[in-house]
Amino acid sequence: VCALSNLVIAIDGPAGAGKTTIARRVATDLGLQFLDTGAMYRCVALLATRRGFTPENAEGAAHLAATAEISFQPGDPQKVILNGEDVTQAIRDPNIGDFASAVSVHSAVRRHLVAQQQRIVQQGGVILEGRDTTTVVAPKAPVKVFLTAGIDVRAARRHRELIGKQIDADLESLKSMIGERDHRDSTRQDSPLRVADDAHVIDSDGMSIEQVVDAVERLAREYEASASVQS
Ligand code: C5P
Repeated sequence: VCALSNLVIAIDGPAGAGKTTIARRVATDLGLQFLDTGAMYRCVALLATRRGFTPENAEGAAHLAATAEISFQPGDPQKVILNGEDVTQAIRDPNIGDFASAVSVHSAVRRHLVAQQQRIVQQGGVILEGRDTTTVVAPKAPVKVFLTAGIDVRAARRHRELIGKQIDADLESLKSMIGERDHRDSTRQDSPLRVADDAHVIDSDGMSIEQVVDAVERLAREYEASASVQS
């Protein structure tokens, strides 16, 4: 229990691989705080669109990233609070996700958000997810997972998720959006999506949510067992 309460698990991977779903479940099971780093980029995107900024406005977005007060309120699902406003729903809009991907290329935006994320990680007892969490935010996390799946599976999951939330969505356009996002996330200069050397790769094609959750929790328990042997 002692090792687990200090445990840091980082989950990385492309859009729609199920990082958020898995991290949320593991957080509940193991009693860890859930740090949704993508939600923070989405918050900056939401503010930028409200100000009428274009995604290219790096300086404007960086200022928003530096001054935005973003916090997470535990619960199921946990709430995202941005400058005192509950934006849990608003940031899930696919257009905000797209805008987030575009503003996340700016190094100054990343620097501000990564600094905030690292302060939370330092407290320990956290599972964080997002593309760069294993490579940049928490490269020393004892448990690192690269969660992936084929593009068809990822698009179908996103589609089901949005329809379930009564958000209109078209499968083909989701697929091309995810493809574009993959490309942008893996080719950007600053912190591109990549598999960390010592990350465990889990390809979730054909796996149920439970099976992926079990696989991550097994890694956590293995680490815990080896850490308690060493101490
Ligand atoms: O994971 P989510 O879809 O909420 O992330 C939205 C966008 O924010 C991603 O497409 C990605 O470009 C960006 N992001 C990032 N680094 C993270 C998390 C998200 O660049 N750690």
